[in-house]
Amino acid sequence: MDTILILDYGSQYTQLIARRLRERSVYTEIRPGDLPLDRARVPGMKGVILSGSPWSCYEDGAPAPDRAVYDCGLPVLGICYGAQRMTLDHGGLVSALPEREYGRRDVFVESDDPLFEGLPRRFSSWMSHGDSIEKPANGFVVTARTDGGIPAAIAHESLPLWGVQFHPEVAHCEHGSELLANFAVGICGCDAEWSMARYIEDESAALKERVGDADVLLLISGGVDSTVAGALLLRALKPERVHLLYIDTGLMRARESDEVMRTLSSLGAANVRRLDSGDEFLSALSGVDDPERKRAIIGDLFITVQERAVEELGLGDYFLAQGTLYTDLIESGKGVGSKAHVIKSHHNVRSPLVERKRAEGRVIEPLDRLYKDEVRALGRELGLPDSVVGRHPFPGPGLGVRVLGEVTRDKCDILREADDEYLKQLRERGLYDKIWQAFCVLLPVRSVGVAGDVRTYGWTVALRAVASSDGMTADVFDFDMKDLRDISAAITNRVKQVGRVVYDVSSKPPATIEWE
Ligand code: XMP
Repeated sequence: MDTILILDYGSQYTQLIARRLRERSVYTEIRPGDLPLDRARVPGMKGVILSGSPWSCYEDGAPAPDRAVYDCGLPVLGICYGAQRMTLDHGGLVSALPEREYGRRDVFVESDDPLFEGLPRRFSSWMSHGDSIEKPANGFVVTARTDGGIPAAIAHESLPLWGVQFHPEVAHCEHGSELLANFAVGICGCDAEWSMARYIEDESAALKERVGDADVLLLISGGVDSTVAGALLLRALKPERVHLLYIDTGLMRARESDEVMRTLSSLGAANVRRLDSGDEFLSALSGVDDPERKRAIIGDLFITVQERAVEELGLGDYFLAQGTLYTDLIESGKGVGSKAHVIKSHHNVRSPLVERKRAEGRVIEPLDRLYKDEVRALGRELGLPDSVVGRHPFPGPGLGVRVLGEVTRDKCDILREADDEYLKQLRERGLYDKIWQAFCVLLPVRSVGVAGDVRTYGWTVALRAVASSDGMTADVFDFDMKDLRDISAAITNRVKQVGRVVYDVSSKPPATIEWE
């Protein structure tokens, strides 16, 4: 497939470049910016984009592209730092601006460069830089400027090299997505052929080739990623070769486990094993109220139960499938540059099973080129219902970290019912899809109330609802007070053990999304 290679120099916007192009049906891959070209090269490569960076070109250790990138004959577009790098690497001058250009700036186009094809001569761009191109290198011309006369775009007169000082990948940049498409489709000649239907076709062929007639085991968590991975395996391989294992920890949401089972059988799953391990998890958690202890107990027991169940399945030389996403690879520093941070490992149980199978070279990750919203689109294409693909994220330890303090069956039941009512109310009010994640937390606090002239002493439920794009930072969702009041009444009416409902108005940071 025609592909644009994005070389990453650590900009917070690098992912956006990839997303904007994929939205335009152009396939992209991100690689570390300082990798030699022969290692960074991707199949079907038609052009290269150099990303922005938190570095200044003049800092010690500032990352730079392999010279071969400029000489490979393919079109190259430098964005911000990428354009400055291109200028310096060709003998031009980059210098610090007296004042940082940050935020919206009008750009005036001064040439008929194909990068600006179909764009107005003046548009509002998004800038974020302290250094700037003072003198373009020999052979380059300035094709656009900001109102201070500062170069905003350059192009080489004879080589396929372009640079923009602004960030076309940022939503605030007018016509930015068109400019990127001008580069990828117009200049590089990429066929815009990236689609979920195409992904299913390609990935199915690759899975058949890799797996052949071997067995494949997938651990289903109930979340979107593993369910979509399961649907894809069932589409690509013989259903009798696909083994799905679901461990019900007893810490799942209302009806979740049944729904997962129903969905999988509607997709033609022939071998689904559901293990009801609720008793085991609850007794291991008995008397424990420290959050980290609870997490450790749940994680360790999960591994024990999983090892036992896999052993019982008695599969021979099988492949282990995982619902790993492109962003998971990036976050664990495997997909892109050394400047990517390890963010999530504390959330994920380090499973010895996965490590063993990885060492054997028998792990398959059929979603590892996709972003989260692409996984949702893939799930829809594979026939999964919206109730499954649109589901909010759910933490591995489940209700175990949402019943604060000691976890008991009764408390789980109370929380499950309150949470079910909360989510039902959000759906009925058309709010569920506007919120990134919403759930109830059962506080270890009882308070006095009154119902029908009788004194009550009920539990307290906290409502959480956050806006976020990746869970790394989060904002409080802005409810109408009336919605909150009605939701509170609906919960206390339905769940008699709950006497009080409060709304958590903490952003992340300083709070986290979950309470434990
Ligand atoms: P925090 O609470 O760290 O959560 O702000 C950020 C996001 O991660 C989810 N989360 C987890 N997911 N295993 C997971 O798979 C975990 O142990 C875990 N802890 C938190 C949380 O629900 C939120 O979406």
